[in-house]
Amino acid sequence: MTVSIPAKTEVLIEALPYIQQYEGKTFVVKYGGAAMVDEELRETFAQDVTLLKKIGISIVIVHGGGREITDIANRLGLPTHFINGQRYTDQAMMDVVQMVLAGKTNKDIVAKINRHDGEAVGVCGIDADVLRVTKAGGVDLGLVGEIARVNDAFLTLLLRNGFMPVIAPVGVDASGQAHNINADIAASAVAAALRAEKLVFLSDVRGVTAHGALVQTLGQSQARSWIASGIISDGMIPKIQSAFTALAAGVSKVHMIDGRVKHSLLLEIFTDEGVGTQIVHEPADQLREESA
Ligand SMILES: Nc1ncnc2c1ncn2[C@@H]1O[C@H](COP(=O)(O)OP(=O)(O)OP(=O)(O)O)[C@@H](O)[C@H]1O
Ligand SMILES: [Mg+2]
Repeated sequence: MTVSIPAKTEVLIEALPYIQQYEGKTFVVKYGGAAMVDEELRETFAQDVTLLKKIGISIVIVHGGGREITDIANRLGLPTHFINGQRYTDQAMMDVVQMVLAGKTNKDIVAKINRHDGEAVGVCGIDADVLRVTKAGGVDLGLVGEIARVNDAFLTLLLRNGFMPVIAPVGVDASGQAHNINADIAASAVAAALRAEKLVFLSDVRGVTAHGALVQTLGQSQARSWIASGIISDGMIPKIQSAFTALAAGVSKVHMIDGRVKHSLLLEIFTDEGVGTQIVHEPADQLREESA
């Protein structure tokens, strides 16, 4: 696709107010799905986060990697058990999770970003106690942690010195035991601890859909009823729930965007249209009705 010179300048000018607005702010990006697997999308993602960093936005990435874990576990002859769509993590599986996420997946992402001069530094939650956990309550999922504390001082140290932290969602408890953490929940906790301006979830869907249509703005009461009725299910549930946790903790905006679309991150941030679903406390029209 060739873009004419006037169209190019128009796009750049449209980006200017956003660049001014976001300079010095922190964005947390949950990186998952096809954007982490497809070679071309991996490349454009690395370009996008590097560009955002170069214009003065502090970028923190929290990545998933469920597919690679399942793949390597299979190769090692280790069966994967899912309970309500969530991976049961015994010690043998935890060893694989730590090796794959903190070793392979994390370093592949860092290497890719640094080829574009993004100055990425990979850590997992064990490094500097970045993600301190306790065993997750509710259904017993084995060594799955819920976040008790984020070492935001360490992340800020990296950001202030021009580095881009890339976090693998492996946490550690008070005894030193490693735990697996849902990457959406980890991203939300990091965004909350850093009082991020934006939390962006990159996934393999257009955003939140209901009855086949894309939902542009989703508020909490609507989300609750759609989770109850099954319109929102599976992997979308932790995303939505952690989106509201982040909003309650002071994160200004949460977005679900389509990681299968090249440069969707830039489109969301720098154009008036935006893409995907924006998660808000309550949609503006509902707030007006309530206060009327
Ligand atoms: N209402 C909904 N709108 C959009 N997606 C939904 C909805 N309800 C359920 N989903 C499911 O949620 C999935 C997204 O979560 P999923 O955990 O699979 O992806 P991810 O978090 O991007 O990847 P990973 O967990 O591997 O990091 C979608 O693929 C879709 O099948
Ligand atoms: Mg998921």
